[in-house]
Amino acid sequence: MNHRTADMREQGVSDHVLVCTNTRSSEYPCCAEANGQEVLEGVKDWLREREVYWSNVRVAETSCLGLCSAEGTAVAIHPRDRWYSDVRPGTVPELLREEFGPHGTRLGLGPEPVKDDRPET
Ligand code: FES
Repeated sequence: MNHRTADMREQGVSDHVLVCTNTRSSEYPCCAEANGQEVLEGVKDWLREREVYWSNVRVAETSCLGLCSAEGTAVAIHPRDRWYSDVRPGTVPELLREEFGPHGTRLGLGPEPVKDDRPET
């Protein structure tokens, strides 16, 4: 095992977008059947168009993130600790613009405190 954290920091990697493309053969929904591959390609294209793909931002196709839905794909962005479900190919630009800014330059943010709107029990 090699500890590569210093290498990644030296390369300036600051953000990691994880896109679920998991498939399953059961009655439960999965991102593969909710356009996961198209969302993944949409994320890559948006970042490529801004010339930040494979620079400070990395993208990984992943298995189940625990946000399964028939309505769209699950996406997580770390280390900012952001989680999305029901992402459709058409909403990828809006999501990435909100996270990374219109030019894809708002990078390296840590997690924000979570606003909890749930009623107290
Ligand atoms: S199958 Fe994608 S989050 Fe579970």
